[in-house]
Amino acid sequence: MKMENMSITLFINTLIFFSFLQYQSSLSLSDSSTSFPKEALPTKSGYLPVSSTSNSSIFYTFYEAQNSSTPLSQTPLLIWLQGGPGCSSMLANFYELGPWRVTKSLTLEPNPGSWNRIFGLIFLDNPIGTGFSVASTPQEIPTDQKGVAKHLFAAITRFVQLDPVFKHRPIYITGESYAGKYVPAIGYYILEKNAKLKDSERVNLAGLAIGDGLTDPVTQVVTHAANAYYVGLINERQKKELEKAQLEAVRLVHNGNWSAAADARNNALRLLSNMTGLATLYDYSRKIPYEDDLVEKFLSIAEAKKALGVNESFVYEVCSDIVGDILHADVMKSVKYMVEKLLKENTKVLLYQGQRDLRDGVVQVEVWVKTMKWEGIVEFLNAEREIWKVHEEVAGYVQKWKSLTNVVVLGAGHLLPTDQSLNSQSMIEDWVLEKGLFGSVSYPNVSTNYVHDV
Ligand SMILES: *[C@@H]1O[C@H](CO)[C@@H](O)[C@H](O)[C@H]1NC(C)=O
Ligand SMILES: *[C@@H]1O[C@H](CO)[C@@H](O)[C@H](O)[C@H]1NC(C)=O
Ligand SMILES: *[C@@H]1O[C@H](CO)[C@@H](O)[C@H](O)[C@H]1NC(C)=O
Ligand SMILES: *[C@@H]1O[C@H](CO)[C@@H](O)[C@H](O)[C@H]1NC(C)=O
Ligand SMILES: *[C@@H]1O[C@H](CO)[C@@H](O)[C@H](O)[C@H]1NC(C)=O
Ligand SMILES: *[C@@H]1O[C@H](CO)[C@@H](O)[C@H](O)[C@H]1NC(C)=O
Repeated sequence: MKMENMSITLFINTLIFFSFLQYQSSLSLSDSSTSFPKEALPTKSGYLPVSSTSNSSIFYTFYEAQNSSTPLSQTPLLIWLQGGPGCSSMLANFYELGPWRVTKSLTLEPNPGSWNRIFGLIFLDNPIGTGFSVASTPQEIPTDQKGVAKHLFAAITRFVQLDPVFKHRPIYITGESYAGKYVPAIGYYILEKNAKLKDSERVNLAGLAIGDGLTDPVTQVVTHAANAYYVGLINERQKKELEKAQLEAVRLVHNGNWSAAADARNNALRLLSNMTGLATLYDYSRKIPYEDDLVEKFLSIAEAKKALGVNESFVYEVCSDIVGDILHADVMKSVKYMVEKLLKENTKVLLYQGQRDLRDGVVQVEVWVKTMKWEGIVEFLNAEREIWKVHEEVAGYVQKWKSLTNVVVLGAGHLLPTDQSLNSQSMIEDWVLEKGLFGSVSYPNVSTNYVHDV
């Protein structure tokens, strides 16, 4: 899309947004819904302003805990950020881990693996210009992680002020894929801000979780060839060709040519896709790609927009090319130093990957984690990789040292909660509550589960 067209789309959505705000209070949201049953309505949804000098705002949907075992004023709040850059968190809401998932016939059905079973769950369309969020002008869309974090901080503090019941709840920031940049960025920003704020004004940050994340792109981009080769997807000649393409991205980073480096990464991934002929690199076992278009179709229905408190004329796209382009030069920039700082300050960090993801999977995460400068890194790398079971079945592996936990989830690709709904729910609940293998004690032990290759 050309920039001019982009500005027009933004402009139209901004206009729609403001005529809507003036009208919103008289709306009745829940009557005569067919594709959007009353029970599926969020507890709250709407817009959180991010700037005092413009009308830009972040759209959110909030789902209170279904069955919390603690008083709501103490129940953890999870915030979800989608990746992209430029993809809407409504993708996770209606396709991955929200309480209701969209079906092939564009209706909603309950998700037993929802992450709001015992925690409050907030989805933010981030950054502005993404999903239902509004950017007053394209110039206001952040071009780097600092800008993203600044807006997120404004949105989160606004959200907490919406209801006194939110005030003291522990906040866990979670997200997937390109949110491997956003999650550390907002965590780091909160640490910086909190240090300067009065106790009562601080954001009650309790932990950060990143699923299948891009965090330190330069280390991550050079792993695709070896990974695909050892999984048996390419031969040695193809491996060499792919290595060359990967190194081009690294060379361009070293030249400070960020935009071309991001292109080179895309090119390497396209090459891998071309060599393997797979339906998607997000999950090497899939016969068809993830059906994220269902979310876009569903949220284009006027009734669904109305139910969420969005103007029916809003043009919804699950991923925004405008935002993608504006953050393109940010793609290869690392936020590893932010994770290091967060760990040093004892912030709980969870990294988890679907074992079948070829883009931001197990190998791509382990490779940057082991280069971290953090006093616990040696102990972490030597910690036992525990076999993690859910209802007697192997669900994956958990490796943990102090505040850092890494989880590999079996039978899952990039959209891990879509593929392993109940196990992803167990994982997030146990990590937040520090239960089982996610507890504070790490046992060194020798595996007794040796089996032969067959
Ligand atoms: C939605 O936006 C359009 C275009 O700006 C406007 O004409 C209409 O009144 C708005 N609808 C509501 C319900 O506010
Ligand atoms: C916000 O939008 C309203 C309605 O379009 C406009 O009148 C106002 O000037 C805007 N405020 C800022 C700060 O841009
Ligand atoms: C709610 O939680 C309680 C225990 O905290 C449990 O006994 C009950 O089955 C749960 N109900 C639902 C609907 O999950
Ligand atoms: C960036 O890299 C591209 C592709 O190699 C090249 O065409 C362009 O001239 C480079 N730009 C700068 C400023 O070095
Ligand atoms: C890979 O690229 C070649 C050359 O462009 C093309 O002929 C071929 O059809 C592509 N294969 C796949 C699986 O995309
Ligand atoms: C590791 O040791 C602990 C404590 O002895 C035990 O509870 C746990 O089951 C062991 N894990 C494995 C995979 O054997």
